[in-house]
Amino acid sequence: MPQSVTPLRHILSADQFDTNLISRIFEYADRAGEAVEDQRRYHQLGNRLSGHILYRLFYKESTRTYESFGFAATHMGMAVLGTQSVQFSSVAKGETLEDTIRTICSYRPSMIVLRSAKDGEAAQAAAVSSVPIINAGDGSGEHPTQALLDLYTIQRELGRTSGLHIVMGGDLANGRTTRSLVKLAAKFPNNTFTFIAPPTFEMKDDILAELRSKNIQYNETAEVKPALAAADIVYWTRIQKERINDAQTDYLAAHPTTGEDYSLGLAEVTLMPPHARLMHPLPRVGEIKLEVDSDPRAIYFKQMHYGLLIRMGLIEWALGYI
Ligand code: NCD
Repeated sequence: MPQSVTPLRHILSADQFDTNLISRIFEYADRAGEAVEDQRRYHQLGNRLSGHILYRLFYKESTRTYESFGFAATHMGMAVLGTQSVQFSSVAKGETLEDTIRTICSYRPSMIVLRSAKDGEAAQAAAVSSVPIINAGDGSGEHPTQALLDLYTIQRELGRTSGLHIVMGGDLANGRTTRSLVKLAAKFPNNTFTFIAPPTFEMKDDILAELRSKNIQYNETAEVKPALAAADIVYWTRIQKERINDAQTDYLAAHPTTGEDYSLGLAEVTLMPPHARLMHPLPRVGEIKLEVDSDPRAIYFKQMHYGLLIRMGLIEWALGYI
């Protein structure tokens, strides 16, 4: 692809999306959802983006984000290239992120989907990239495309993105999905938040300060059951063991049942109002018991499919088509 002359449409943070753009992307996702299910309309999608190339550069583990971007691009006719095996690339020889981005750009992809190890690295990549960078998770920083798909899931399931009590639990200090989702949900009126986390895993103050500055109500508590009973959305997460600090490692060593203590079974999920929904970015590693899967409030598997549709919309946006 020739180099673009207009500003590049990077996707770096949930901050950059306003409510107008969010609804445009949601509308596209709705239409994409109909088209992927309907063979007669599929041809409208199938060749839309042929000639474009999506490159996935993943320095860290992933199943859903890596695969859903690949499928989203393929459904629209793009070619898909990339690597999850950076240990076999020049990165293993000590090449910088910037030089790797310059290298990939010289082969003219249409965009690069990047999962990186440290906060801020997506922005660092964008600074040297000649094509849009899509932040697919930068350390404990942000995961904007996940937040968009989470909010889209809420819209599809509850029919609104405002006036919600959103309860978030688990590792709120290291989880990037919760950080980005708070930023996004805070753009809509009358949303309130309850945060539940083990000691040392609480939501970081930059996010809390942002909520305070916008006069958005939030509450931090250790009481899981009353929070569940008053929730519209429960968003549960795992301990991000690959990114915990020394204090958190010590806490887990001294409290080995932490994972189980924060695990939701049917006994807990039954406390949620019938209209409420239970979400999880996945992977789950025990913090939602298998017995919950068949409860109609559990929508974490549907969430993955909504992710495909939103990523189709985000690819279109990054290319300048919506
Ligand atoms: C999340 C992530 O990578 O931040 N997974 C995902 O993208 N679906 C959550 C997690 O790994 O716990």
